Amino acid sequence: MAEQTGNTGQTVNPWKVQGEIVDGKLQAIDYNKLVDQFGTRLIDQPMLDRLEKLTGVRPHVFLRRGLFFSHREFNKILDLYEKGKPFYLYTGRGPSSGSMHVGHMIPFLFCKWLQDVFGAALVIQLTDDEKFIFNPDLKIDDAHKFAIENAKDIMSFGFDPKKTFIFSDLDYMSGPFYKNVIKVAKSITTNQSRATFGFNDSDNIGKLHFVSVQASPSFSNSFPHIFGTANIPCLVPCAIDQDPYFRLTREVAQKLKYHKPSLIHAKFFPALQGPGTKMSASITTSAIFINDTPNQIKNKINKYAFSGGQDTAELHRLHGGNCEVDVSFQYLKFFLEDDEELALIEKQYSSGEMSTGQLKQKCIAVVQELVKGIQEIRATVTDELVDQFMNPTIPKDASMKPCVPQVQELKIE
Ligand code: TRP
Repeated sequence: MAEQTGNTGQTVNPWKVQGEIVDGKLQAIDYNKLVDQFGTRLIDQPMLDRLEKLTGVRPHVFLRRGLFFSHREFNKILDLYEKGKPFYLYTGRGPSSGSMHVGHMIPFLFCKWLQDVFGAALVIQLTDDEKFIFNPDLKIDDAHKFAIENAKDIMSFGFDPKKTFIFSDLDYMSGPFYKNVIKVAKSITTNQSRATFGFNDSDNIGKLHFVSVQASPSFSNSFPHIFGTANIPCLVPCAIDQDPYFRLTREVAQKLKYHKPSLIHAKFFPALQGPGTKMSASITTSAIFINDTPNQIKNKINKYAFSGGQDTAELHRLHGGNCEVDVSFQYLKFFLEDDEELALIEKQYSSGEMSTGQLKQKCIAVVQELVKGIQEIRATVTDELVDQFMNPTIPKDASMKPCVPQVQELKIE
């Protein structure tokens, strides 16, 4: 049936993100549908108001603009903070290439803000094991090398090394972390893993097991050098395609008498080609990498960034552009801090006053600036800093003292 009409539903899982195809045309991801399908909650204004009231800090642009849009029990994290009780942050990255792209930065930039505002410790899992298991062509030593290179990219996002632990699964898998992995593995049946992720009998058994590895950093006693043996709740910021892992994690947590991790979900960072797929490191023309030169950035955006503008300049002036699908506008929504400027661009582009060329120029300048800043810090990362972030024998500060309370203008009541 689907083949006859050329229509398909949208696909969102940890390996594939694709919007619905209607009459052969790829549609943008329908996020409300995802929330229904996954059974998560939308983040609403009262929740943002509460966050602002509790912290005295204006919600991050990603929250204000609905880019982090969905959650599972984020309110529990706010309850803890209100009571002065600790929690920690957990996110991760599958190191599939030597350099990260700008879309990969989203959960990390958000974690950086959360760390600054709440003072929470952060653990970052680099799943070199996952990438090896799932990619038939990747050598295990290359996966590990990518993990270390990606760790250096992540270090350039400004995390506090005293509060942040970055680890490669291949290196860190032992002791208390491995005990949790095995406890989780014992609590998940083949059927559950297969049904959650859609595996079949010819998939390797590592794939079925991998959920245990991604689940276990949600439990604080996996990190004795940070939390000792304490059982501290955790908040996982991630793109919504990772939710299936944590649905299972939350089921298992109950059985193991751990806290269920809370989640806060991001929308996907669109590929240059349009809002129906996410930026992918393995499709180089879809992505802007953290190590791209200013010229490469300019050329990629000019050449590939999907435009919501009209076919001719004349028609564009008449009808205006569509910001919803325009990739340059969408990137500005993530990276242009100034709300007023963004609103003005939206107005001018929608009315046709601003051309696609002008919009692209603005996008190029903003992305070049962002990447330049990261590259400057990346160039200063030393082996000593790598050790401070990645050495599991160096204790961390999990005290919940906000590092930079003035991250964004404090609200004056
Ligand atoms: N599986 C994720 C990826 O391929 C990496 C990851 C591991 C992760 N743990 C996580 C992502 C926790 C978000 C939150 O990118």
